Amino acid sequence: VSATGRAPADVLIDGETIAAVLTPGSTLLGTDLAASVDTVIDATGKYVIPGGIDAHTHMQLPFGGTAASDTFETGTRAAAWGGTTTIVDFAVQRTGERIEDGLAHWHELAAGQCAVDYGFHQIVGGVDEQSLRALPKLVDEGITSFKLFMAYPGVFYSDDAQVLKAMQSSAATGMLTMMHAENGPVIDVLAEQLVARGKTDPYFHGVARAWQAEEEATHRAIMLANLTGAPLYVVHVSAKQAVQQLAWARDNGQNVFGETCPQYLYLSLEEQLGASSEQWGAFEGAKWVCSTPLRSRAEGHQHHMWQALRTNDLQMVSTDHCPFCMTDQKELGRGDFRAIPNGIGSIEHRMDLMYQGVVTGEISLERWVELTSTTPARMFGMYGRKGVIQPGADGDIVVYDPAGHTSIGYGKTHHMNMDHSAWEGFEIDGHVDTVLSRGKVIVDDGQYLGSKGDGRFVRRGLSQYLI
Ligand code: URP
Ligand code: ZN
Ligand code: ZN
Repeated sequence: VSATGRAPADVLIDGETIAAVLTPGSTLLGTDLAASVDTVIDATGKYVIPGGIDAHTHMQLPFGGTAASDTFETGTRAAAWGGTTTIVDFAVQRTGERIEDGLAHWHELAAGQCAVDYGFHQIVGGVDEQSLRALPKLVDEGITSFKLFMAYPGVFYSDDAQVLKAMQSSAATGMLTMMHAENGPVIDVLAEQLVARGKTDPYFHGVARAWQAEEEATHRAIMLANLTGAPLYVVHVSAKQAVQQLAWARDNGQNVFGETCPQYLYLSLEEQLGASSEQWGAFEGAKWVCSTPLRSRAEGHQHHMWQALRTNDLQMVSTDHCPFCMTDQKELGRGDFRAIPNGIGSIEHRMDLMYQGVVTGEISLERWVELTSTTPARMFGMYGRKGVIQPGADGDIVVYDPAGHTSIGYGKTHHMNMDHSAWEGFEIDGHVDTVLSRGKVIVDDGQYLGSKGDGRFVRRGLSQYLI
């Protein structure tokens, strides 16, 4: 199955690379294929797809005095189990730190640890003369996108002047500007007012992060991109009004793209409000504290996200994998939702959760491949090598069994380094059977067969949507 169609075929892999895609029973240079290869994987009745690419992950992200609980080792292994063979993580420049130093640290964290291939985007935590000089040099190092935050004042935040300057650099270099589009200063005031009125439960995180703050920041990012000529990619879009802004900009001919995440397709603010457990009470809702937040189902956001994936108003699905345990991590915000570390862990379940959209008729089989692998490869300059099954591409392949079943839950199919699952009880009609990374079988029938350090750094080119 590719982004454009499906056909019965045999895939011949030589070493790390796909050598040929052949119609069944065909001969290669006059030899019987099946008789002349070392290993045959029988995928009869199953889908053979290019390995998943999760272009938005945060292994070990420092946040709110703690750090995301998956290391590059545990997080990429969970990715492999779930049929994702490439991640693009975010190297962090903390405010006050040099970009080069932040990036070097991220290379250290990942090198020799990963189960699957990995690339980096650069988080720019402080736009200043030094970082503006450093940004263009990243292109030669295979880092061709950077993320700015209109949210989180005092932490990663950029004000409009900083956004403008960074976007001028993006326009000049061709680097893609990735935007966390929420009006942080406005959200902070609303959050402070809620807490002052005793509204401290996790649910109020979503109340404070109103959709208007997402729509407004999305619009502002679009206009600053328009002004500077920067290509713009808006991350973790959850509000239907933000999608409308993106659609409007695209209709006007701007190079503007958007991703959403499984949580904005399946989960809602109402469910977060209703969440309660014996152990945590209403604080149970902390499991789903992420930014942008879960949105109201009554307002129709989830429905609209699926629609936008069909109409291509949104182009791809990443996880924004940013796991925190309840104990000792999310727990920091008991009594004040502002101190709950933001993030949900989903890297292991993205391919399954999105396949569920095929089962329910929300998206086609080909669109599933496009949203989870082919477009991420193109968007972030890896296409040809990743995101497609064709001669010369890396042997990154998933054999997916549509007749299989996956029960998601902590203690079930769970390998992420967290003490709970944000996806407890989800039942998937489908199953990741076999996963190959550059020709090596790393997962087979639920068994992990790879080893730490299999994954290599991917030097990415510029976005193939722009050249
Ligand atoms: O809640 C989230 N999304 N945490 C990760 C940081 C970010 O803004 O992507
Ligand atoms: Zn973000
Ligand atoms: Zn993120």
